[in-house]
Amino acid sequence: MNKHKEIRLETQKDYKSVEKLTFDAFETMALPGRDFTNEHFYAHLLRNDKSFIPELDFVIESNGRIIGNIMYNLLPLTTDNTIKDKVLSLAVLSVKPELHGQGLGASLIKHTLKEAKNLGYKAVLILGGHPEYYNRFGFLPASQYGLKWLDGSELDAFLALELENGYLGNDGGSWELPEIFNTLVNEEAFNLFQEQFFKNGV
Ligand SMILES: CC(C)(COP(=O)(O)OP(=O)(O)OC[C@H]1O[C@@H](n2cnc3c(N)ncnc32)[C@H](O)[C@@H]1OP(=O)(O)O)[C@@H](O)C(=O)NCCC(=O)NCCS
Repeated sequence: MNKHKEIRLETQKDYKSVEKLTFDAFETMALPGRDFTNEHFYAHLLRNDKSFIPELDFVIESNGRIIGNIMYNLLPLTTDNTIKDKVLSLAVLSVKPELHGQGLGASLIKHTLKEAKNLGYKAVLILGGHPEYYNRFGFLPASQYGLKWLDGSELDAFLALELENGYLGNDGGSWELPEIFNTLVNEEAFNLFQEQFFKNGV
């Protein structure tokens, strides 16, 4: 990171910029079977979810502009023998579209994985990520740790990384989506949010 770019924690005054950044970043992606972007709504909701980890909510600021953001939440795994409560989910990662491919996403991931380890977390899951992108940071298909998608299938985009060797093991575990998913898929709540989002001229 050069002197014009700083990785720092998100503050309340960044919220709107981060949501705009998230909208812009995900608008550039063509997701099969989906013709709208709601990740900015997810970022908005996540900050108020009990699973949210503010200590890992980082932005990249460059000359007063927010150009990158990453957010995590807690995603405990329940197995027959134990509850693994040191597991995170990488929830949102966004970089300004015109700045893609300059290593900003990688710097946010590397920075936060290091922080997460320092904070005592032992594994990170990604519920929907591009394996080709996340491989380079050590993420593997979650199925290699015995983890299954909610419907019991092995989903390619479900990824996992151990921060402590052996923490995930291979006995899998059940897990739940954060409660905010109910609001995320509520059309009325989304439309209301969108109205405000565009009205505020962000
Ligand atoms: C994904 C994202 C955060 C990456 O940020 P970035 O700063 O552009 O990434 P980096 O510069 O660190 O890495 C660039 C590399 O990743 C690759 N890459 C970027 N997005 C990729 C994707 N979706 N699938 C596979 N590879 C991808 C690029 O081809 C490039 O490869 P190279 O190093 O071999 O040239 C950014 O593209 C983005 O905001 N995308 C839209 C939102 C999104 O997809 N978020 C992640 C959800 S899983």
